[in-house]
Amino acid sequence: MAKPLQIEVYNPNGKYRVISTKSMPGTRWINLLVEQDCRVEVCTAKKTILSVEDIISLIGQKCDGVIGQLTEDWGDTLFSALSKAGGKAFSNMAVGYNNVDVNAATKHGVAVGNTPGVLTETTAELAASLSLAAARRIVEADEFMRAGLYDGWLPHLFVGNLLKGQTVGVIGAGRIGSAYARMMVEGFKMNLIYYDLYQSTRLEKFITAYGEFLKSNGEQPVTWKRASSMDEVLLEADVISLHPVLDKTTYHLVNKERLSKMKKEAILINCSRGPVIDEAALVEHLKANPMFRVGLDVFEDEPNMKPGLAEMKNAIVVPHIASASKWTREGMATLAALNVLGKIKGYPVWAEPNNVEPFLNENAPPPAASPSIVNSKALGLPMSNL
Ligand code: GLV
Repeated sequence: MAKPLQIEVYNPNGKYRVISTKSMPGTRWINLLVEQDCRVEVCTAKKTILSVEDIISLIGQKCDGVIGQLTEDWGDTLFSALSKAGGKAFSNMAVGYNNVDVNAATKHGVAVGNTPGVLTETTAELAASLSLAAARRIVEADEFMRAGLYDGWLPHLFVGNLLKGQTVGVIGAGRIGSAYARMMVEGFKMNLIYYDLYQSTRLEKFITAYGEFLKSNGEQPVTWKRASSMDEVLLEADVISLHPVLDKTTYHLVNKERLSKMKKEAILINCSRGPVIDEAALVEHLKANPMFRVGLDVFEDEPNMKPGLAEMKNAIVVPHIASASKWTREGMATLAALNVLGKIKGYPVWAEPNNVEPFLNENAPPPAASPSIVNSKALGLPMSNL
């Protein structure tokens, strides 16, 4: 028989048993659960990615709710095990939930939570960091210094791209895409072209007003354009950042053909989900176009990279850290815990999942609601009018 996974237990005599498949940043999330009579079990096993069997063994015979991670496969098997153990709630500690079969959860009467509203700026900042690092070849230059190769200033040394006046392209101008667009326009005076099925009126208004301000200051104004197709963005933009959700329609959204439409010296950034790019085609494109650069936070076969990617000097690769700021990760842990707690306590669902500030205020008790339940309608859960 397999050895049980190592766990840490808080409030052993708590009435409700809540499991977190990983240790999460901060302590507030644990305190909030403990204060509400939960026994909290945190899996501390060294294994990075837990299998379905591992999680079934954690759930055991009686479990009221689970906080899980985007690396786990939450499908019919796990929701069936959770519901048999009396569980009514699961929350991903993530805004994305492409690892969760929401229909299966609904079928078993399990509420599925996610953590929107705390990742926006942090993720956009990483996309902006990768854009800058790629444009100015920062990683290559750092490696060059450390290798002791710098023997004096040279006119051609690590020449990159000036962002000011260039065009930034955003595919998917939702919360994160819009925040990134603002950073690049406001911070670096880039012009925007974006593609989204929905018009981003707030973003357009912001850029119009900022452009007018620059003009009144005697500077070149910034501009925006809503593209009628994704290909229009690929053809026109110098830096392109991908912010769609991953589903059947966005799988391999950027493929060989689309890569070939982009400018030879373009920069492509992906902080969304790996399979949005055909990574094998990307490696071939990087080989054939040394001035094309890419900044990747996510990978098609995460945690692995497609063969050849690690050797490409024109690729910057980081290990899915877009949401990794202390404030955001602690906030995500808090929201995930409150999603589970809210369902256990029979609270309603918060009506504005993008406005989660009241849940994050450390000096006041959180509202009696689950911050964000993605299948609340399907389960017919009441909405909060707090
Ligand atoms: C991170 O990738 C998330 O979806 O929260």
